[in-house]
Amino acid sequence: MSEKKTSNQMWGGRFASGPDAVMEAINASIGFDRKLYAQDIKGSLAHSAMLAEKGIISAEDQSKIAHGLNTILGEIESGDFAFSARLEDIHMNIEARLAELIGPAAGRLHTARSRNDQVAVDFRLWVKEELTRTAEALKGLIAAFLARAEEHAATVMPGFTHLQTAQPVTFGHHCMAYVEMFGRDLSRVRDAIERLDESPLGAAALAGTGFAIDRQMTAAALGFREPTRNSIDSVSDRDFALEFLSLAAICGAHLSRLAEEIVIWSTPQFGFVRLSDAFSTGSSIMPQKKNPDAAELIRAKTGRVNGNLVALLTVMKGLPLAYSKDMQEDKEAVFDTAETLDLMLAAMTGMVSDMHIDKAALKKAAGAGYSTATDLADWLVRALGMPFREAHHVTGRAVALAEEKKCGLEKLALEDLRSIHPEITEDVYSVLSVTNSVKSRTSFGGTAPAEVRRQIRYWKKRLAKA
Ligand code: ARG
Repeated sequence: MSEKKTSNQMWGGRFASGPDAVMEAINASIGFDRKLYAQDIKGSLAHSAMLAEKGIISAEDQSKIAHGLNTILGEIESGDFAFSARLEDIHMNIEARLAELIGPAAGRLHTARSRNDQVAVDFRLWVKEELTRTAEALKGLIAAFLARAEEHAATVMPGFTHLQTAQPVTFGHHCMAYVEMFGRDLSRVRDAIERLDESPLGAAALAGTGFAIDRQMTAAALGFREPTRNSIDSVSDRDFALEFLSLAAICGAHLSRLAEEIVIWSTPQFGFVRLSDAFSTGSSIMPQKKNPDAAELIRAKTGRVNGNLVALLTVMKGLPLAYSKDMQEDKEAVFDTAETLDLMLAAMTGMVSDMHIDKAALKKAAGAGYSTATDLADWLVRALGMPFREAHHVTGRAVALAEEKKCGLEKLALEDLRSIHPEITEDVYSVLSVTNSVKSRTSFGGTAPAEVRRQIRYWKKRLAKA
């Protein structure tokens, strides 16, 4: 490795030779941080405009810089820009090209700035834009669920605990459970944007700068609420990336649970839903199959999303303040999660909107497994004044009898029920049907169709403002 390498054009002063090839390979981030080009140029435009406004650079140099940066933006967007690993990252690739285009004026752009605040501002801008996309995607998914919930506010289905039939609920109610979950995800996105909305530009390397810069001005130009308040924290903080990865992991958990339900529901054994052709696949050998691949992949991709969160938490956990090069490893996890989450949300929205709900199968399943046993116990409490614990025992005996007779609770004859408890009357049948069972659950947030419709109205209003 004795071959003479050209020294770096950005910090060549102290360096007699350039880096070894392996050094260049481990050091370069241009392979992935080129994604930040638009944010980098935006940040540089705001910075140079402020430098000119404050008389730190001349108006003439500023106009050359702005013109050069806009030319570079065009080159990158049309695929005409030659990225170089020798120039390490997006910041130096752009600055080097600027020097080629406009000459010495390019060297003035980096006044009162460091790559440390530069990368922090670029990455914040990128994550903020991604969070805005995530919010829109979540709103789309919530809207899809609200439409299905409205259609099926009164469609009965079995509710499960331990994946064992528990009590009848409505499909609309089940949909609204997901609306609550994705609604919380959406509010986490909004919170994350709120906390991230500060501009680190002007923190420079870590200590701020002696130049008379105006950080309020650059913060406003970049659409941030205000500048960050501590220059050390400004270049050390990656909480905003961790928050994005965390909320993505939580949202991923919700998507994965739903994906799992879709996998189960779409089996011939359950037959609750049928996926559309657009959101399922066939088998190359078994002609009868319709596979829920999108749901399975959503379930699986959650693993990557979780891994990305753990990866960045691990990168950050031992770093002394302020910047360390370790932090360059913050980007791939975030880019990967963003792309993955966007795809997961889009695929889930498509599946939910398109899937056929088999009302008859849901109704049949809703009545199986003695799902109205609790209704019987409640009736005994209300009609006969029985303590609930005793009612539980009496109902247990009724279930055992129905099991013995291989019929549903509602099919037991009155004399059979009376053999268990003599005071039971004809009126008990009014609570043993699944339809009456769900209708009776009118407590706030309960499964009664009227209550489900109330929650749908609430969410429609809330979504319009979200
Ligand atoms: N490519 C670097 C990163 O992503 C930019 C910041 C470099 N700063 C430094 N002091 N070497 O973190």
